[in-house]
Amino acid sequence: MIIGVGTDLLDIRRIEQTLARFGERFCARVFVESERVRCDRRANRAACYAQRYAAKEACAKALGTGLRQGVFWRDMVVTSLPSGKPILTLTGGARRRLEKLLPEGMNAAIEVTLTDEYPMAHAVVVISAVPNGIKGPPVA
Ligand SMILES: CC(C)(COP(=O)(O)OP(=O)(O)OC[C@H]1O[C@@H](n2cnc3c(N)ncnc32)[C@H](O)[C@@H]1OP(=O)(O)O)[C@@H](O)C(=O)NCCC(=O)NCCS
Repeated sequence: MIIGVGTDLLDIRRIEQTLARFGERFCARVFVESERVRCDRRANRAACYAQRYAAKEACAKALGTGLRQGVFWRDMVVTSLPSGKPILTLTGGARRRLEKLLPEGMNAAIEVTLTDEYPMAHAVVVISAVPNGIKGPPVA
């Protein structure tokens, strides 16, 4: 059962400008270490950050809060499986918000998909509730 859907479209040039202007301060506020390591290795560094920024905004929409009510950027972390498939993991306030949305006896399964075509980056997040004991996509 789907309990939340979010999407976000972002102009990579905005992230390029923010990185040039605020660099470390912006990265430290929005991204965790593993996201930064991955993006800083990339030739298309700004696009990598833009996709992850879009994923966090999409997730905040899927949670129904936006970046409010205790849901912070660094609570929503994008990692990748060895295959390259992105995974979204929630901690802190975002995790607590997710737990509030879940019906009794259900676990959350979060799917995220990312894409970019310069100058745009895009993400979609779908949050589902699956009965305890049924295997969904990884959430943590
Ligand atoms: C919800 C949020 C994520 C929207 O992001 P945005 O990039 O400003 O705007 P977008 O155009 O992507 O999305 C707007 C749409 O999100 C949807 N939306 C708004 N609040 C929402 C909520 N609480 N839950 C789910 N969706 C929401 C609405 O459909 C809205 O469009 P509408 O007002 O025309 O109906 C935003 O409220 C937010 O929290 N942004 C944080 C941005 C920020 O802090 N920036 C600082 C720069 S570092």
